[in-house]
Amino acid sequence: MSVSREGFGFMPDGTEVYKYVIENMNGCSAHVLTLGATLQSVYAEDAAGELRDVVLGFDTVEDYLTKSNYQGATVGPYCNRIGGASVDINGKHYELTANEKGVTNLHAAGEFSYRVWRATVVDADAVEFDYVSPDGEGGFPGETKAKALFRLDAQNRLHIVYSAVSDRDTYLNMTNHAYFNLNGFGSGDILGHELCLNADAFTPVDALSIPLGGSRDVTGTPFDFRTPQAIGARIDCADEQLEMTGGYDHNFCIAGWDGTLRQCASAKGDLSGIKMNVYTTLPGVQFYAGNFLHGAEGKHGVPMTKRTGFCLETQYYPDTPHRPEFPSCLFSAGEAYSAETVFEFSK
Ligand code: BGC
Repeated sequence: MSVSREGFGFMPDGTEVYKYVIENMNGCSAHVLTLGATLQSVYAEDAAGELRDVVLGFDTVEDYLTKSNYQGATVGPYCNRIGGASVDINGKHYELTANEKGVTNLHAAGEFSYRVWRATVVDADAVEFDYVSPDGEGGFPGETKAKALFRLDAQNRLHIVYSAVSDRDTYLNMTNHAYFNLNGFGSGDILGHELCLNADAFTPVDALSIPLGGSRDVTGTPFDFRTPQAIGARIDCADEQLEMTGGYDHNFCIAGWDGTLRQCASAKGDLSGIKMNVYTTLPGVQFYAGNFLHGAEGKHGVPMTKRTGFCLETQYYPDTPHRPEFPSCLFSAGEAYSAETVFEFSK
């Protein structure tokens, strides 16, 4: 087990960005930047024993600041969408940044994702990143102290533990936005990957990708991934929900959610044999098939074209502030938010 640090570049204001590499004795490694507490690379062993980088990302700070669609970033204080870009808390109205189509708040407009976090090596296999968001940043109430701990264990499990506490009542919902390609980034689209989701229902959305309310049974629909299915098998079929979002981009309700760590997904690269199991304490997972990737050049100049990476963003459901039927993520002043997600790699 080892943790090493190297310079990654500089922010426009001169702040240095570092990359931390956590490597285990199998050669598996996770590379995390202080910019956005961003997962830049994960090297996992394929069926032939070769290491492949299974995460999409960029080589420079400038690329992360100008070309990114949240590749690998820690997102918060509220990931995914808030309809109307506003929330009401204790009778007070808060306007948030309407960064999507001028009407929706998406990923808190990058509030956590494009800041430089402070890093502390907390163990031979773990680095903790922390960021203090000032009261009112992005419109969200309260000074929020956020942490993201990355630990890579000897079983090739990358544990990400989020925690946050605010000095005002506020909504907290953090995620990691890694785009995976288990065949290795740059090896084409992800349509041949097999995916399994432990979800009997998903939350259907409107044309702005805001949940309509309630959930819908996956039975008999292209959203049924309870048995392994190729991502591409049904992605373009005539289905109103898929047409609305241009492919999978939906929150799945994790079966039996009780706040303990439970498996929500598994995926397998068809060309590499690399498998990934995902576990989380959270109630939902956004399965996004990279439909909006449009060819930005990423690591080694490889273009990230449509559907060359997929995301499994563990989360509270989108637009929870406006949906009393969804599990709540309103935290009182001083109340601790915490969540864990594990990405486990094998072959
Ligand atoms: C959203 C997508 C969006 C992507 C990048 C995902 O969480 O669901 O619609 O394009 O993030 O912002």
